[in-house]
Amino acid sequence: MKQVVISGTGLYTPSQSISNDELVEAFNAFVNDYNDTNQAQIEAGTLEALAESNSAFIEKASGIKSRYVTDKAGILDPKRMAPSIADRSNDEPSIQCDMAVAAAKEALAQAGKTVADVDMVIVACSNLQRAYPAIAVEVQTALGIDGFAYDMNVACSSATFGIQSAMNAIQSGSARCVLMVNPEICTGHLNFRDRDSHFIFGDACTAVIIEDMELASSDSQFKILDTKLQTVFSNNIRNNAGFLNRCDESGLGKPDKLFIQNGRKVFKEVCPMVAAQISAQLDKLEIPADNLTRMWLHQANLSMNKLISKRVLGREASLEESPVILDRYANTSSAGSIIAFHLYKDDIKAGQLGVVCSFGAGYSIGSVVLEKR
Ligand code: COA
Repeated sequence: MKQVVISGTGLYTPSQSISNDELVEAFNAFVNDYNDTNQAQIEAGTLEALAESNSAFIEKASGIKSRYVTDKAGILDPKRMAPSIADRSNDEPSIQCDMAVAAAKEALAQAGKTVADVDMVIVACSNLQRAYPAIAVEVQTALGIDGFAYDMNVACSSATFGIQSAMNAIQSGSARCVLMVNPEICTGHLNFRDRDSHFIFGDACTAVIIEDMELASSDSQFKILDTKLQTVFSNNIRNNAGFLNRCDESGLGKPDKLFIQNGRKVFKEVCPMVAAQISAQLDKLEIPADNLTRMWLHQANLSMNKLISKRVLGREASLEESPVILDRYANTSSAGSIIAFHLYKDDIKAGQLGVVCSFGAGYSIGSVVLEKR
């Protein structure tokens, strides 16, 4: 069986960001306007007043301090509370293609590859801006890559599932070198009027080069020792937007066409599943948990990551062992664990081990055990 490595990563970060204070100010302006407009009904007891949000709560509940976004003005406009992202003509690159190309160029440079070396492109993310043609085919063409490309969506676990798909393709001989990209515009599916979740997400794009180890020449190679994927159906994280309901008259106002979750249940149900999966995988590989130098975990919630790493290691993980990017990026869905890997992998020495792990809607969990070459 061919050995497969991750030989390069790239990151595109939008130029605009929103602090918790800025987000809360806009949210509270919307709340006060709503309560003023509906004062009579609220006083009559026929309508419930909306409650204000709070920066301190957000940081304590999630670990998030700010998030990068594609359009700050639209999100912070209390009359709109959604990013304003203009439609582009069919002759222009899509916004997800632009993000993907930027991240891909960095990943290719790090891997020491040209587009001629790549023969497969996967775009793996939670939200694709159109049904077809696949964004991946557009990215392939924009970069000038021969071969084939496809989109896939496993929500927050899209990147780890994409890594396994790339590895399988290399091992079966259908590709030599794969570009896997995660253009996540999570602010487009977030309900900025929902107090429980308006702070959760941000935007970013990551890219990973996965290739046959025999062909790899980069200084930064991580051998894939094992991948493990798991899915269990749950309605606790859901978004009902789809092509069958796109003409819904209520549009943005219908909350179930945006992100909804039962955050408490997600927390309680997903953390033990993730910890058990990583522990079982390490057992199978006969790797004691203490031999893990780093855990590049999905970045949704700081307490979740602390709980998962504690269960796996049997003690609290240090920030060095389980790095956090959530504070400045928020939850960027499938990009999160790859951002952590991208930013916190250069100090890993040859022979040291780590695990990239994502988890999210589905439920879906993907863990990839890596060894630095
Ligand atoms: N500002 C102030 N208070 C708020 C608030 C806000 N924006 N949002 C909720 N609250 C209040 C609630 O009203 C509640 O008050 P009560 O106890 O008086 O009823 C309290 O804070 C706790 O709310 P809850 O929603 O239960 O918070 P939590 O501590 O569970 O944290 C999440 C919420 C979403 C951050 C947390 O559950 C989580 O991260 N879960 C996992 C989410 C996840 O990973 N999802 C994956 C997405 S891909």
